[in-house]
Amino acid sequence: MVSFLRTFSTYVGKRMDRQLLEKNARELVSPGRGILAADESNGTMSNRLEAVGIEPSSEARRAYRANLFSTEGYESAISGVILFDETIRQSMDKGKQITQELSERGVLPGIKVDTGAKELAHFEGEKITEGLDGLRERCKEYFSMGARFAKWRAVIRIGDGMPSSACLSTNAHALARYSSICQEQGLVPIIEPEVLMDGDHDARTCFDVTSSILDATFAECEKQGVHIPGALLKPNMIIAGKDCEDQISREEVARLTVDCLTKHVPHELPGIVFLSGGQSDEDATAHLNLMNNLGVEHPWQLSYSYGRALQADALRKWSGGSEDPASSSRSAFLHRAKMNSLARSGDWSQDLED
Ligand code: G3H
Repeated sequence: MVSFLRTFSTYVGKRMDRQLLEKNARELVSPGRGILAADESNGTMSNRLEAVGIEPSSEARRAYRANLFSTEGYESAISGVILFDETIRQSMDKGKQITQELSERGVLPGIKVDTGAKELAHFEGEKITEGLDGLRERCKEYFSMGARFAKWRAVIRIGDGMPSSACLSTNAHALARYSSICQEQGLVPIIEPEVLMDGDHDARTCFDVTSSILDATFAECEKQGVHIPGALLKPNMIIAGKDCEDQISREEVARLTVDCLTKHVPHELPGIVFLSGGQSDEDATAHLNLMNNLGVEHPWQLSYSYGRALQADALRKWSGGSEDPASSSRSAFLHRAKMNSLARSGDWSQDLED
């Protein structure tokens, strides 16, 4: 009897944990909202600040981000913010924890949990994302600090002989391991296998490579018991490499991307939140808008988890040039958030940019 009760309560507990993951995953892709990726590592954020003439420091990174998070009304377009380890421990200007500020606005705090893409041994030019050691303990701590979702980015480069099958299988395996550990600790995993835009490959090659990494990733997720309704996918769009002469139209990007996802993503996944990957702000918005306007049936919400495409202008404005750089930066961020919010329902148009 005692052992029956123990088994029964474990079963009920697991069911409730899964329901919570599903609820948070659905909330992250609720209508008209998407994710702000503000999880640039200290090195990347410092480079970005330096590029606009700001001396980088922990305080400079905090001040810039705290200003963004205090923007009036952005919560109608932003459902979650991905933070970096440094930021999740920082406070707003008046001392309130950043996680508390976000939660009070109805914005879910998220956390980047990988420790970066490192050289893949024996495969020059290719990367494997690290960070599995100690991940369970880190997730536990982040959950206690208020995080409800996480991100792990795998990087796939297209080039001569690349990606190798070793690169695809090791990254897929790590993405699934990360996802299982996050779900065990109550965090919705955002699964990000990014096929880079660097190179001169055409859109068809991007389609094929994206198909391969999606297949490998979801096969590993199945093997490792990842609960797909409690996860989100963060993929690249299907775009020709930056140096390819044969660029395709925005309409083709939208059509090929939805086609690729339809063929290679499980239908129980609640949502797909695209990365911007170096596209211009307006291209990232226009592509999402077209996808949501295709009139093609698909089972998931199509949304955004943009870093640069939500912040590039806000960062430029933060560096000065106006009487009130803080307010100009917030306005620039709010504008892009609203434009992408409209793209969720296919209601964005170019004239709204002006
Ligand atoms: O991992 C990538 C970031 O979270 C998204 O950044 O939109 O600038 O590519 P991005």
